[in-house]
Amino acid sequence: MMSDKHDFVVVANRLPVDLQTSPDGKRTWTPSPGGLVTALTPVLRKNQGCWVGWPGVIDDAPEPFCTEDGVTLHPLKLNITEYQGFYEGFSNATLWPLYHDLIVTPQYDREWWHTYREVNLRFADEVASVAAHGATVWVQDYQLHLVPGILRQKRPDLTIGFFLHIPFPSADLFQQVPWREELVRGLMGADLIGFQLESGARNFLELASRQGYDTHGEVSTREVSAFINLSGGRRVGVGSFPISIDSAEMADFTTVDLGGAERIHAELGKERTVILGVDRLDYTKGILQRLIAFEELLESGALDPQEVAMVQLATPSRERIDHYRLARSRVEEAVGRINGRFGQIGRPVVHYQHTSVNKTTLRRYYRMADIMMVTPFKDGMNLVAKEFVACHGDFSGALVLSEFAGAADELTQAYLCNPFDIESVKTALRSAFRGLRDQPDALAQRMQIMHEQVLSHDVDLWSTSFLTALGKK
Ligand code: ADP
Ligand code: G6P
Repeated sequence: MMSDKHDFVVVANRLPVDLQTSPDGKRTWTPSPGGLVTALTPVLRKNQGCWVGWPGVIDDAPEPFCTEDGVTLHPLKLNITEYQGFYEGFSNATLWPLYHDLIVTPQYDREWWHTYREVNLRFADEVASVAAHGATVWVQDYQLHLVPGILRQKRPDLTIGFFLHIPFPSADLFQQVPWREELVRGLMGADLIGFQLESGARNFLELASRQGYDTHGEVSTREVSAFINLSGGRRVGVGSFPISIDSAEMADFTTVDLGGAERIHAELGKERTVILGVDRLDYTKGILQRLIAFEELLESGALDPQEVAMVQLATPSRERIDHYRLARSRVEEAVGRINGRFGQIGRPVVHYQHTSVNKTTLRRYYRMADIMMVTPFKDGMNLVAKEFVACHGDFSGALVLSEFAGAADELTQAYLCNPFDIESVKTALRSAFRGLRDQPDALAQRMQIMHEQVLSHDVDLWSTSFLTALGKK
């Protein structure tokens, strides 16, 4: 029988599955998008906990249920006002662009803020009702900043961790937010606050200090040696915990028909070098910039359209928000233009798909690709880069990676580029081509180093180091 109290509770805006209702009323679940879900799914499987989150649709939330993996999913309903104010508004049109260093301008709207507070309260209430006495609660990401503070008041018996999956900006930027004190106070309810990179953790400490908190110690990775002392004697740990993937599972091709990868490559043209992009369709990901870099290399004759093909898989994301619509239409316009200029009938030079694909298919794409392009303007980590590397246990292939992706701290053997500078993206892409053609041994060595890094720094290391540090607090 399913217990209604849990010793380990994860709360994230997203559940790992989205509820779909077909026209005949049949309800099914499909995997939900994003790196948070990719990373947390194996963690929950291992810890057999409860996951509280939103099922991805408006005004609907089935009763809690247990998955085949033994994880209890606890859906939380959002109505249309909450969806607009909390999800589309404050989370994704205020905090998301602010935390990604103002790639677009954040909007500060009082109504959105009120709704964000109310919805955070509802998440905290839900968690308080499912957490056993003395349970560990792990709160995830920017949508739920206020949950640790509310939970601390309601349930002082809990051990509370918070992890931010996206970058944390400099104090100067954060101070723009009209509700900056409340957001920081919300986080202070946690026993441990984790960031992807040391730089994000340092930004947070600097901000806390500016807001008058007593901070001490130096930030370190996968352990905690920086703290904030609160009045009343409690202290909050701050550290960096770089997230990762289930590397061994991603790398294991024993049950995947590799002929499938070869068939994809053959369909694109056996003799062609294949460049791959895989992203949520988000303006932070630099999809347009990589298309423009590709176009300019075709235009100058540096690349021959007979010899290359680009594949871009783009998962639909936050589709009603203006900046997302604009990003999509610009990408699609560029795809059409490049094919119009350099493709032939029945032989496009860019293959673009605006859907998500299943995991086996995705792994085949990764495996068959010669060059992977990951070019975000800013990204907390970017799991796509790690997934590509994990799929290349044969040490084939090259990775072009933005220096502004968190993953660049670990994948130093990638061809690094600055997506704000199209020439830099072109140079990195050309170097990757030259590596493939002229220096296969050096290229394989680069991939081997990255592959070993990803295999030895997997998502288990991430969750174990965070939860161990949390347990010690
Ligand atoms: P974000 O969390 O911002 O979306 P990440 O790169 O960290 O970025 O994680 C994206 C996750 O979504 C990865 O696990 C990746 O495999 C998955 N993904 C992205 N695009 C697709 C797609 N078109 N089809 C299937 N999965 C996708
Ligand atoms: C990023 C965020 C996650 C979010 C995911 C997908 O990974 O860090 O919190 O769940 O994007 O975005 P969505 O808005 O569809 O949940």
